[in-house]
Amino acid sequence: MASRATMERKESPQPVQKDPDVLAAAARMAGEDLCSIADLSSGEVRAIVKLGHDVKRNPREYRHALDAKQMVLMFEKASLRTRLAFETGINTMGGNAIFVDQTSTPLGERETIADVARNLERWVDVIVLRTYAHDTITEMAANSRVPIINALSDFEHPCQALADFMTLEEHFGTATGLNFTYVGDGNNVCHSLMLTGAQLSANVTVATPRGYSPDIEIVTKAREIAEANGCEIRLLQDPQAAVEGADAVYTDVCVSMGMEHESTKRAPIFRPFQVNEALMSKAAPHAVFMHCLPARRGEEVTDAVIDSPQSIVFDQAENRLHAQKALLLLLLGGLANVESFQR
Ligand code: CP
Ligand code: NVA
Repeated sequence: MASRATMERKESPQPVQKDPDVLAAAARMAGEDLCSIADLSSGEVRAIVKLGHDVKRNPREYRHALDAKQMVLMFEKASLRTRLAFETGINTMGGNAIFVDQTSTPLGERETIADVARNLERWVDVIVLRTYAHDTITEMAANSRVPIINALSDFEHPCQALADFMTLEEHFGTATGLNFTYVGDGNNVCHSLMLTGAQLSANVTVATPRGYSPDIEIVTKAREIAEANGCEIRLLQDPQAAVEGADAVYTDVCVSMGMEHESTKRAPIFRPFQVNEALMSKAAPHAVFMHCLPARRGEEVTDAVIDSPQSIVFDQAENRLHAQKALLLLLLGGLANVESFQR
């Protein structure tokens, strides 16, 4: 397996202001939703990540890009990273965030989701949702004239995967040809990583316990994209074989939000999938360890791994900010207000 540790960081051949992926994405995505990574083309995924790198390097360029834009966040589940990355992200581009805690009243309970959408679109420019049911997000999208962003559902976590692949590009120079291994529950984070990896031409291997493999609809879609992009999606049940020679090893909690009642049942099933030093030693010597966070230290990952020099988990958390700013810029048409894009 080719080593990627020594790869030169690939700079974009042209400035982001002239990049064809970014310009095409700005034209197509303005006013659209992001419910799933599958809503995006490969070029659009590349555009978000390229713009994310630029926003990170030159935050001042974008500081008035979303002047006076209003964003509402309605969350049925807890959040640290997603919420704060969106709130700080829009605040630093001139807009404003309103947070609505839906943890005790799920969306659709007090009034229909369609009616909520028809109210919100009269006041705000973008609606960010964290839900249990993925259908809550797609139903809001079907009834809203302003963009809907999936900030995690039981099915996908697109904002996470975009930031994660931005982090991989930062570390390795490119995601193309990278051997990316996910170990653990074949759930929301895993789904978005499979789709994003395929969009960016990474080889994605997923190792889950039997009965916890990713959804077949996602596997089929990711394989279709991978075939078009010359990469591969592999599903295994052996974590040792899955991490063999990997450039990146990723895990998530074994018990996602809403699944707490399965904790006792899942603990022994997921034990062999723990990312510990023995498992990391099977990966390439230059391999990085990744986690979406929050981590259950001692369960899906040991302290020795998450606190090791191989761990890039806080770079991932940092890049949530930059990738989500890039996404907001594209969905809200914010590049039209950035001077360097007007030249
Ligand atoms: N990774 C992630 O989405 O973190 P939060 O649940 O804290 O938002
Ligand atoms: N799979 C986890 C991700 C948390 C960011 C969950 O859904 O709880």
